[in-house]
Amino acid sequence: MKDLIIKLTEISSPSGSEEKIRGLIRNSIEKYVDDIKIDNMGNLIAIKKGNSKGKTIMFDAHMDEIGIIINHIDKNGFLRFSPIGGFFPIHAITHRIQFQNGVIGVIGEELRKDYSKVTPLDKLYIDIGAGGKKEAEKYVGIGDVGNYFAKTIVTGNRIIAKSLDDRIGCYIMIEAIKRIKKTNNTLYFVFTVQEEVGIRGARPAAFSINPDVAIAIDVTDTGDTPESSKMEVKLDGGAAIKIMDSGMLTNRKIREKLISLSKKNKIPYQLEILERGTTDAFGIQITAGGIPTGAISIPSRYIHSCSEMVSINDVNACIDLTVAFGKEYND
Ligand code: CO
Ligand code: ZN
Repeated sequence: MKDLIIKLTEISSPSGSEEKIRGLIRNSIEKYVDDIKIDNMGNLIAIKKGNSKGKTIMFDAHMDEIGIIINHIDKNGFLRFSPIGGFFPIHAITHRIQFQNGVIGVIGEELRKDYSKVTPLDKLYIDIGAGGKKEAEKYVGIGDVGNYFAKTIVTGNRIIAKSLDDRIGCYIMIEAIKRIKKTNNTLYFVFTVQEEVGIRGARPAAFSINPDVAIAIDVTDTGDTPESSKMEVKLDGGAAIKIMDSGMLTNRKIREKLISLSKKNKIPYQLEILERGTTDAFGIQITAGGIPTGAISIPSRYIHSCSEMVSINDVNACIDLTVAFGKEYND
């Protein structure tokens, strides 16, 4: 478990540059599925075939992560950048950025005149240690993408890493693929691209698969830290079954099935209402003629930082619930 989670989270694959993570996931699942393909968007689609008595179920987790893209290099060799997805300045200053070729830089900020305010992204820069523009250009160029560089820590019952959003969802699907041996249902496990820039991979995948039902697996916020927002979800509370977020109301029948499967299989669960943020489930639900869609969420603190934190107990509950749904869903 530990080794695969470390590999999945430490790899660099921001939205639009999912090649590395896609290769790793493909290698991890290939021998456990009947068919595997990459669609025109770059989504990795793995299929376990069922029979005519079963339903078609699409499981979804996104492979991409937030990051940055270089848009300017100044004469002293400092890099300016645009965000890829929800890259927030409050989490960024003095953290390290790794580019696809392995070059690492530090995020610095222009002189902050008012310390009650967070420096906006356009006043931040990346320092790769270059002496000037010419030297910087030996290592990086306009359009190069990077993401947080951070070591993954698996300790006690906690995982701390960058990109647990949503590599932990990818991990849950990989484990479910390994554990589901035979079922009547035909299962599509879709590892999507470009979620962080606006749910751009999941929609075409859902349109072409057009499943009977879909479940997205992604992180959600928690309300269990000092003075946090009022939210019922907490670490160690179990798999979070989504009722609503800012993009969707989950299909009632699907979420009731997730709740009854949790009870039946004694899987710890909690109910989720997330006021800000959404997942691939939002895009899937309103694709084609509309697809009954639910979501299983992994409670996570510090989302979109280099130190996202989840509970291993919750991760295991999410795997159990994904397996139960894949095997037992039948109406
Ligand atoms: Co995210
Ligand atoms: Zn996510």
